[in-house]
Amino acid sequence: MKFSRIVFYFLPPELRFWARRVFYMPSDVINYLRNGKSKYPAKGLIFTGSGDFEKEGNQIVAELLSKKFVKADSKVLDIGCGIGRIAIPLTDVISLKADGEYHGFDIVERGIKWCKENIKSKYPHFNFLCVPLNNDLYVNNDRKASEFIFPYKENQFDLIISNSVFTHMLPSDLENYLDQISKVLKPGGVVRATFFIIDEESKRLMKSNNGLDFKFNYEDYYLIDDKVKCANVGYSEKYLYSKLKMYGFEMLEINKGYWCGREKKENFQDVVYFSKLTN
Ligand SMILES: C[S@@+](CC[C@H](N)C(=O)[O-])C[C@H]1O[C@@H](n2cnc3c(N)ncnc32)[C@H](O)[C@@H]1O
Repeated sequence: MKFSRIVFYFLPPELRFWARRVFYMPSDVINYLRNGKSKYPAKGLIFTGSGDFEKEGNQIVAELLSKKFVKADSKVLDIGCGIGRIAIPLTDVISLKADGEYHGFDIVERGIKWCKENIKSKYPHFNFLCVPLNNDLYVNNDRKASEFIFPYKENQFDLIISNSVFTHMLPSDLENYLDQISKVLKPGGVVRATFFIIDEESKRLMKSNNGLDFKFNYEDYYLIDDKVKCANVGYSEKYLYSKLKMYGFEMLEINKGYWCGREKKENFQDVVYFSKLTN
C-alpha cells in the first residue's frame, strides 16, 4: 500500500475530511469561479474514494439501464449512498410522475446533508437518511451495523444497490445487511453489490501483479490493514456464496474487477448481481 494511503488511514475520520478539503481547495475554488455551481459535489467534499466520481456513477446507471434493472417507476434503495454518486445520474431515470422512488442511507452525516440540500431539494421523490453506525474508517461510536434494522417496508424495493460498501464491512455486519435486504427487496428483485472476492485466481494475481494486498487472512474474510479493519475487507468466495444462498438469494451474474491485478476491465471491484428467490 502506498505510504500516503497508510498515513491517510491513520488519521481519524474528521481529520481525513479536513485533509481532503484543504488539498482540493485551490482546484475547487478555480472550478467554481470558472463554471459556477455544479450538480456534483466539490472534489474536497468527496469522501467516498479517489476514482472519477461522475464517470463511475454514470457507468453504473448506464449498466443498470442496459440490463433493464431500473426504469422510471422503479423503487430503488442505495445502501451506503455516500455523497450521491449514483443518486445524481438516477435523477434522469427515476421519475416522480411514474411513481418511482429512490431511498439512500449512509452513516456519514456530511454526505447525507449534501444530498438533501442538492438532490432532495429538486427531486422530492429522492430520500436520504443518515444512520450513524460504527465503522472504524468513517464513524466512531458504539452503534452496531450488525444490529441495524432497515427502516423500510417489507418487499418495498425492485432494485438495491450497494456500491463499494460491503468492501468496508465485517462479516457480522454484512450478514445482518443480507438479512435486511432479503426483507425489503421484492421477490424477484435485484441487488447490485460490489466486493473484493478472494478466490484462487485473485490470491495468485494479488501476489504477482501488485494488486491490493489482503495479507491478513481470517479465513472467511481478509483485510489489508488490521488496525483500520474496515478500510478494505475482502470475502472468501466460499463464504460469500454460501451466505447469499443462506439468505435466500440466487446468483445472477459476477463481473470480476481489476483490483487484484486482473487485466484492466470496466470495474475495479467485483460486481455481483443476485436476486431474491420468489418463494
Ligand atoms: C467507498 S464509499 C462508497 C459510497 C457510494 N456507494 C459510492 O459509490 O460513491 C463507502 C460508503 O459506505 C458507507 N458505509 C460504511 N459502512 C456503512 C454501513 N454500515 N451502512 C451504510 N453505509 C455504510 C460509508 O459511509 C461510505 O459512504
